[in-house]
Amino acid sequence: MASRVFQRLAEAEARVHGTTPERVHFHDVGAVDAIVDVTGACIGLHLLGVDAVHVGALPVGGGFVEGPHGRMPVPGPATAELLKGFPTLDTGIRRELVTPTGAAILTTLAAGAGTMPAMRITAVGYGAGTMDLETPNVLRLFVGEASGASGPAPVETIVQVETTVDDMSPQLYEPLLERLLEAGALDVWLTPVIMKRSRPGVVLTVLCEPARVADLSRLLFEESSTIGVRWTAYQRARLEREMVRLDTAHGPGPSGPGGARAGARRGPSPPRHPLTPSPARHTVGGAFPASDPHHSGGCAVKKTVSMTINGAPQSHEVEPRLLLVHYIREQAGLTGTHVGCDTSQCGACTVHVNGMAVKSCTLLAVQCDGAQVLTIEGLAKDGKLHPIQDGFWEKHGLQCGFCTPGMIMSAHQMLQRNPRPTEAQIRHDLEGNLCRCTGYHNIVKAIQYAAEKMAGK
Ligand code: FES
Ligand code: FES
Repeated sequence: MASRVFQRLAEAEARVHGTTPERVHFHDVGAVDAIVDVTGACIGLHLLGVDAVHVGALPVGGGFVEGPHGRMPVPGPATAELLKGFPTLDTGIRRELVTPTGAAILTTLAAGAGTMPAMRITAVGYGAGTMDLETPNVLRLFVGEASGASGPAPVETIVQVETTVDDMSPQLYEPLLERLLEAGALDVWLTPVIMKRSRPGVVLTVLCEPARVADLSRLLFEESSTIGVRWTAYQRARLEREMVRLDTAHGPGPSGPGGARAGARRGPSPPRHPLTPSPARHTVGGAFPASDPHHSGGCAVKKTVSMTINGAPQSHEVEPRLLLVHYIREQAGLTGTHVGCDTSQCGACTVHVNGMAVKSCTLLAVQCDGAQVLTIEGLAKDGKLHPIQDGFWEKHGLQCGFCTPGMIMSAHQMLQRNPRPTEAQIRHDLEGNLCRCTGYHNIVKAIQYAAEKMAGK
């Protein structure tokens, strides 16, 4: 524990002196009193049986101090470096209230900062300093039992950093989320929102430890179009987890980060209640609630609509307002074409009509009377996948697969028009097809793979 504190101190000193931790000179923080401070704090916490340390916002003080490098502003450079990401406050006192040693101890050992965790207090201790200040020069320590400690899991502090963005290409979210995770985010996610003047936007949420707030905020400013971020500290409890490898019917599952994750609950299991079946909403050849705007029954007027789908003639009597996508799925029974939004936003329903890629939720079936329609089911020939389908398989271009038929149909038309597209052209052409889980990186690779295969390479 003590060596972690000194390591962090060395890293901070190295950063401010522009050198490496191995070459850093500790000056006064390497002196006996600093060694006593660090080891004493660690021994004290050990003797108290403390599992987690939480600190309040740190009153850094102000003014100047005399140090080995002369007169320096408070907080000193090493202290400021150590406090990055930690909540601080200015109490108006112009003295050095947090030293580099104190900052190193607190920022290394703290599991949370800013707010006091929910706990049952069992002891309180005071340590008084010798400086005469206008407020009590006292450090107060509460020892307690986290309120969740006897429950299913211990409580810890995390920070939720958020920003709302409405002017960024969706394709840029994926690399941004990856960079945030690489930079120490515990979790990241996107939430679609409707903003003022009915503008659609996205809330980007990042969960992190308090010490990561500054770095992750900087990343958001650098890598997204945002001009402001906000954050809130939360208490959280989580179950202990472990990675396990599962054998499945398709072979062993992946180990490591892609493997299955299990959470263990401490204490007795909660009583289980039988699940109440929710009313099913059948989307394939089933019944639809009368309130469904696309399928409300009882329309007296019907029209016979005929078209050729994947080379097979189809003729069905349908309501005039039936959308092409529902004609394909319910009348022709070709459910490979998906419905993601029904409002022409996601591209999951893309098919070809008379050789043109169209979102089939934007056309009425009656508008396609006599048309030639190609759906995802019509791409494979003689039991062999189309090269684009192959590409998605080989390059892992899908996860849940919901967007995949629409992506493939859009890519199919793009490659007919432009057999050797650049990455930028692929990304541009797929702007009308949204993928929420695979990410565009592998989708682009899948299409490049298909382009090479179709060019005979
Ligand atoms: S279902 Fe047609 S674009 Fe989303
Ligand atoms: S693969 Fe899941 S939405 Fe694209």
